[in-house]
Amino acid sequence: MGEKILVTGGTGYIGSHTVVELINEGFEVVIIDDLSNSSVDILDHIEKIVGTRPQFYQFDLCDQARLNDFFKKESDIKGIIHFAASKAVGESVIKPLLYYRNNITSLLNLMDCMQSHQINNLVFSSSCTVYGQPDELPVSERTPFKPAQSPYGNTKQICEEILRDVAQANQQYRLTALRYFNPVGAHPSGLIGELPTGTPNNLVPFITQTVAGLRDSLKVFGTDYDTPDGTAVRDYIHVVDLAKAHVITVNRLLNKKQNQGYEFFNLGTGNGYSVKQVIDAFEKSTGVSVKYTLADRRPGDIERIYANTKFANDVLGWKAELGLEEMMSSAWEWQKRTLS
Ligand code: WQD
Repeated sequence: MGEKILVTGGTGYIGSHTVVELINEGFEVVIIDDLSNSSVDILDHIEKIVGTRPQFYQFDLCDQARLNDFFKKESDIKGIIHFAASKAVGESVIKPLLYYRNNITSLLNLMDCMQSHQINNLVFSSSCTVYGQPDELPVSERTPFKPAQSPYGNTKQICEEILRDVAQANQQYRLTALRYFNPVGAHPSGLIGELPTGTPNNLVPFITQTVAGLRDSLKVFGTDYDTPDGTAVRDYIHVVDLAKAHVITVNRLLNKKQNQGYEFFNLGTGNGYSVKQVIDAFEKSTGVSVKYTLADRRPGDIERIYANTKFANDVLGWKAELGLEEMMSSAWEWQKRTLS
């Protein structure tokens, strides 16, 4: 087994796909997850895909004493990928305190443990929501933050500022924030995918659950945006492409290829698609139709955003390879399996 990597939130959507790619790459993986938005069954599915079962600990990262005990026991961790956080834009507008407490306390606890256990490599799950509604598009890593449009986005801005300041104060750290655009789709095995607990906040699981008959109808939030068809534009990226970017980043940190203490990268495809274009792509790639109604804008939403991917392409040597139709067909295959 290769070097040991801790993946927090590793039974979650992006976390589980990243665990698969890390094990494929030869890393040994240990997961911490509180299972607040995922199922322990995911461990069986990961094992079915890669042939080994990652070590798993169930607890909340906000419990600092428990986290410290974990690091005393798991003393050979070489790097951390920190996914564990609350991540629904719409929900964060309704429950801001939950988002500030969970997302910031968990990072602070993790960094305290990194300091006391001499772990210097961290990949942080950030988000394009740190940009707010950018004035210029596509948005690059040099685009300054604007006031976040949601508490969720604000927690990601605050966490990135924590990473920047800690790296400036401690030369031994190599910290990298990966700013995801909109992760969608599922592993080609159909064994792991997006499985939100309760009513989905995100577009694609709501589409697949509507088509599966679990939801009456999809609501399209907003048809009066300044976009070609009036619906909001996002840069959707296949979760497998996203997972592979994490493996490249971990290798880069462990091999000390990152010069600066703190770096950050946009992880998108560089293509912006509207909600209606996503629906059309879903129908084209699956052959099934999506029932939807038009509704008002959702509080906290921005109008349009898509990535300038040049920095990640050039410096990480990573580029998204999978297109919108593969994102939609893999999401539908996964949904059908979870019904069976
Ligand atoms: C996309 C579009 C909605 C649901 C997500 C993650 C966030 C971050 C960025 C990683 C919007 C519309 C949605 C529905 C709809 N990613 N929509 N009907 O808000 O861009 O944020 O990506 O960190 O964590 O949440 O994604 O899928 O919620 O919305 O019309 O039922 O789809 O208004 O325009 P969002 P989303």
